[in-house]
Amino acid sequence: MTPAQEPLWYKSAIIYQVHVKAFFDTTRDGYGDFRGLYEKLDYIAGLGVTAVWLLPFCPSPLKDDGYDIADYCGVHPTYGSLRDCDEFIEAAHQRGLKVIGELVINHTSDQHAWFQAARHAPAGSPERDYYVWSDTPDRYREARIIFTDTEPSNWTWDNVAKAYYWHRFFHHQPDLNYDNPAVRAEIIKAMRFWLDQGLDGLRLDAVPYLIEREGTNCENLPETHAYLKELRTVVDEHYPDRMLLAEANQWPQDVRAYFGDGDECHMAFHFPLMPRLFMSLRKEDTRPIRDILQQTPAIPTNCEWAIFLRNHDELTLEMVTDEERDYMYNEYAADPQMRLNVGIRRRLAPLLGNNRRAVELLTSLLLSLPGTPVIYYGDEIGMGDNIYLGDRNGVRTPMQWNGDRNGGFSRADAARLYSPLIADPVYGYQAINVEAQERDQSSLLNWMKRIIAVRRRYVTLSVGTLELLETGNHSVLAFVRRTAEEALLVVANLSRFVQPAAPVLAEFAGQRPIEVMGGAEFPCIGTEPYFLSLGPHAFFWFEIKPC
Ligand code: GLC
Repeated sequence: MTPAQEPLWYKSAIIYQVHVKAFFDTTRDGYGDFRGLYEKLDYIAGLGVTAVWLLPFCPSPLKDDGYDIADYCGVHPTYGSLRDCDEFIEAAHQRGLKVIGELVINHTSDQHAWFQAARHAPAGSPERDYYVWSDTPDRYREARIIFTDTEPSNWTWDNVAKAYYWHRFFHHQPDLNYDNPAVRAEIIKAMRFWLDQGLDGLRLDAVPYLIEREGTNCENLPETHAYLKELRTVVDEHYPDRMLLAEANQWPQDVRAYFGDGDECHMAFHFPLMPRLFMSLRKEDTRPIRDILQQTPAIPTNCEWAIFLRNHDELTLEMVTDEERDYMYNEYAADPQMRLNVGIRRRLAPLLGNNRRAVELLTSLLLSLPGTPVIYYGDEIGMGDNIYLGDRNGVRTPMQWNGDRNGGFSRADAARLYSPLIADPVYGYQAINVEAQERDQSSLLNWMKRIIAVRRRYVTLSVGTLELLETGNHSVLAFVRRTAEEALLVVANLSRFVQPAAPVLAEFAGQRPIEVMGGAEFPCIGTEPYFLSLGPHAFFWFEIKPC
């Protein structure tokens, strides 16, 4: 079977998340484009990742960075043509990289032709029925507001239609009406369009909110799952090697339903794990991570979690308790400017105080815990953020390629760029950039390449089971990843100080840990807990081999 036909490729993938706009500008208009992404494919492949996830690139007024789609079957002219997109996909495939796109299925832009037709058409007409309307803003009161900083209600009055329309996100993003079979058919058409274009996977944006029902919170409803199963049936029938990834920011037991019996989404993000990695680090206590892993239900064997440290959105704090949220705000967003909606708009390196050891520790967990890791562009070089840019724009600034004008991102006048570059003395493009880090053997970038290569050597890190071990020290996490062929032991010190640990390894008595980065052989394991000492934020990945 060729790699392109491996139906379970997503289970052992490493995904690099990137915005076409932010990567490389070849047209000097201040925006990155598909040709630029094409030129940088060797860089992406050189990281060792196996898939690229592209943020939305369809025609859009870009009021929500492209999540406000005005036409499902095209490319935003600023990013290039459909042909440029096709060429990019083909070139990525030639390098063995999968390409994942977005299917923004819950809502469109208010500039979409469907919405314009709907508001001008009479109430009760087929056109009007593409969206969700009401004469009062009192329906579905139990649905929460997601963009709490900007939206006072999920209903907005439309003066043309003389009715309120429903929207779970910005008011310029009306929700589609999934009770209408015509909408269901249109979205299947859009999905097929992009799968025919060659995309290997689609992230289903904001997927819990497709259906509204009175008396519920309008999230995760059975009718939503029924529609997702319809999508999956089409995928299985016509595109058996493609993947659907659910963006469902929900508790693990609710996300579980998005996998169905292996007949709904192939993947889903594990949202609640992410803030707990940061919490455990700052508390120097592994319990938040252990607790959420213990609460994570088993999933069908043809499914996989997607796990991440940071992405294009705020670091969401929806899936934590009130007390945990306060803790996270205090520790990671002391300045109110760092907060947005129910979350924190910062990148990985600044969140961790630019502490290289802490960045490596969290990255090592990202690459060794169960789930397919997703790396956000720029985090591989430790890029910074700009909390003064508004909305989530501060974590979406141009990629920093070198110390030249505009960080090597674009040759346009700086004033024309879609966003200023990060330019402060610590994280600015003259200090943090790809070219410099490629030349520096001990740079974060080169470390990332090495650890990604190691991760790829051990399929067990992708598909192995997880067993948490007692270590006798709350600051030290230990777990075993196992397949029939091998067992790997991971030990991680969440503390900023040296710590002892004694994982219980009696079942491996007569074998020894071999550290995978350098091959150092550790003493044989006996029946007593196995004593290890770990430096600040240190971690070990061990193979277990006979003595
Ligand atoms: C998803 C996206 C986010 C967007 C929202 C509304 O949550 O990740 O960026 O703003 O959907 O489309």
